[in-house]
Amino acid sequence: MFPLDFPLRILEKKAKPGESVLDPFCGRGTTNFAARILGLFSLGVDSNPVAVAITEAKLVNARAENIVKEAETILHEVQVDALPEGEFWQWAYHPTVLTSLCKWRKALLEDCHSMERKALRGIILGALHGPQPKYSASYFSNQCPRTYAPKPRYALNFWKKHKLHPKPVDVIEIVRKRAERFYAYQHESIGEVKLGDSRQLETLRPKNTNIKFHWVITSPPYYGMRTYLADQWLRLWFLGGPPWVEYRAINQFCHQNPHDFVKDLTTVWNHVASLCDRQANMVIRFGGIPARKINHLDLIHESLKDTPWQIINILPAGSAADGLRQANSFLRQKTQAQIEHDIWAKLK
Ligand SMILES: C[S@@+](CC[C@H](N)C(=O)[O-])C[C@H]1O[C@@H](n2cnc3c(N)ncnc32)[C@H](O)[C@@H]1O
Repeated sequence: MFPLDFPLRILEKKAKPGESVLDPFCGRGTTNFAARILGLFSLGVDSNPVAVAITEAKLVNARAENIVKEAETILHEVQVDALPEGEFWQWAYHPTVLTSLCKWRKALLEDCHSMERKALRGIILGALHGPQPKYSASYFSNQCPRTYAPKPRYALNFWKKHKLHPKPVDVIEIVRKRAERFYAYQHESIGEVKLGDSRQLETLRPKNTNIKFHWVITSPPYYGMRTYLADQWLRLWFLGGPPWVEYRAINQFCHQNPHDFVKDLTTVWNHVASLCDRQANMVIRFGGIPARKINHLDLIHESLKDTPWQIINILPAGSAADGLRQANSFLRQKTQAQIEHDIWAKLK
């Protein structure tokens, strides 16, 4: 996940009014949100339903008080017959919290069409798991990493060892605080987000097919990072998935070998080029993971070789480990990320 500052700085400095932005691997919609702040049209695409639901929430127009009202109405009106079973669920959430989550899950699976419900779904996904602060709670779960869901066996051992029991947090207060923070001021939303595979050209086409993109700001999957879906198993459960970790990778990139991975990237860069304005710029934030001893810049060079894109600059972007402090507090082994780069390209 890259910080908002990254796409915002680029677009603020360089984009002209009326230009359009594409992110073919939008993740949590950071690029789309930056475009929205600046009043630019954007399209985000991702094959992970969690990414799409969160991006969608960043693109709706909703008022904080209406989102909270919707959350309260669901809790009053919806009944649930059963909660997910097993020790993990007993330790992950206090029973009253889990009941509220199940009510929201049921209601939002039945109907998530209104702006308020889309916003509420994004807020709940964001608050589903994370660290427990000393004072007022910001997350529904017992102590957890925020960016990824822990594997049940490891989490159980951790909670039991540290005698950490789930707390009966005020779920509406958590929703209210987040709604007030995220929907405090309104920028008109002119963005679009699609669930799909960016290797398919059709997926990358906006509804208005006359639109040509002037900016592509994106961060593709890092080679060897195969857990984008498994790491989000709790959020996928909230979106209708099973209450256990699933190791499937539908519509995700091929990580078997560098050759196939590069081929996937090339396909996307070619599709993207065909939807861009002649003067378009593309900025790719890319890095590697220590487990794969391969230079990520070699992969990017190779992926752009047989495409209409020409690299014009490569800048170091710091290390992905800079943002990993909170996740590390839950891990036995400290995570180390390789250095990342921003690769700037233009159409030839
Ligand atoms: C490095 S992350 C993007 C992070 C994003 N920049 C952010 O700030 O949240 C890469 C994303 O690519 C998505 N992805 C992987 N394979 C894909 C495919 N074939 N089509 C579309 N998205 C894909 C993953 O689900 C993941 O969300």
